[in-house]
Amino acid sequence: MLKRRGPSGFGYQSTAEEVTQGIDLTGRICLLTGCSSGLGLETLRVLHLRGAHVVALARTEENARLALARHGAEGTPLACDLSEPGSVRDCVARVQDRGRRLDAIICNAGIMALPRLEQKYGLEMQFLVNHMGHFLLVTGLREMLADKGRVVMLTSALHSRTPRGGIDFDNLSGERGYGPWKAYGQSKLANLLVAKELARRLAGTGRTSNAVHPGVIRTGLSRHMNVLAKGGMAVVAPLFLKNVPQGAATQCYVATHPAVEAVTGEYFADCNIARSSRDASDPVLAERLWHVSKELARRLG
Ligand SMILES: NC(=O)c1ccc[n+]([C@@H]2O[C@H](COP(=O)([O-])OP(=O)(O)OC[C@H]3O[C@@H](n4cnc5c(N)ncnc54)[C@H](OP(=O)(O)O)[C@@H]3O)[C@@H](O)[C@H]2O)c1
Repeated sequence: MLKRRGPSGFGYQSTAEEVTQGIDLTGRICLLTGCSSGLGLETLRVLHLRGAHVVALARTEENARLALARHGAEGTPLACDLSEPGSVRDCVARVQDRGRRLDAIICNAGIMALPRLEQKYGLEMQFLVNHMGHFLLVTGLREMLADKGRVVMLTSALHSRTPRGGIDFDNLSGERGYGPWKAYGQSKLANLLVAKELARRLAGTGRTSNAVHPGVIRTGLSRHMNVLAKGGMAVVAPLFLKNVPQGAATQCYVATHPAVEAVTGEYFADCNIARSSRDASDPVLAERLWHVSKELARRLG
């Protein structure tokens, strides 16, 4: 945890407003998933504050519209249920139809530590929502990225809490064993591997792809944690956890700051480049995940 400021000039306590201070995003278009609460809602607010047009994605168009209205932002509300490949593809088509290039795609939505195995389309739910939904979205919108467009993928420090080998390719359904945190960690490792693999695929184009760990922040994400853990979190929150404006800082920094315009394939925490796990730095694993995800995408139709 970088309590002091790092080489970027920002650190653990920096807020989204602070890291975007003086950056004029007028005319820029930023697409954001999970805009309806937590870090997404704060990211929406700050991007709008700096002048960006936010293409706000939520499970329903109504939720996206409400999130924009909450901050008096005009933006473009769109439905994108990441657990429904059809909804993601419709969303991709609507963004393509608008024809306007995207300066940033921020893959922020997520679910965490579902207590029991939940599945859809034969996949464990966190793998489906956190990873596959975003994979479909980003690969579908890749050609819509502006010349210096940036992809920002929300991961977590828990990406290192994964089964041996990183991704359990023989158990993507969760049926051969399920643990709430292991499944969450695996989905967040997948986010990180995709960010890095995409960076390799975008090399030389001026477009970038990075992953960020936002810190530990009390948001709706903990809704599935048991009562004891939640109670403990409430007690320590003011002492050890980031608040939401601090939690949204790293994604806002990586999505907009001129200092990282050309930085790609990195993992950020506390608004600075950080070290990810060994599995996360394995290009062979990243490429394998990319191919498996493409095949799954084809199967999901
Ligand atoms: N908070 C932390 O401590 C922490 C730590 C590390 C990483 N992260 C990452 O940060 C990101 C944001 O989390 P947060 O803390 O802001 O959590 P949050 O308040 O629970 O927000 C999550 C967002 O994801 C959306 N979402 C969930 N399922 C979806 C689906 N099927 N389709 C579309 N959207 C869906 C939610 O929409 P609804 O409102 O409709 O449910 C919500 O807007 C996540 O990727 C998370 O993994 C958070």
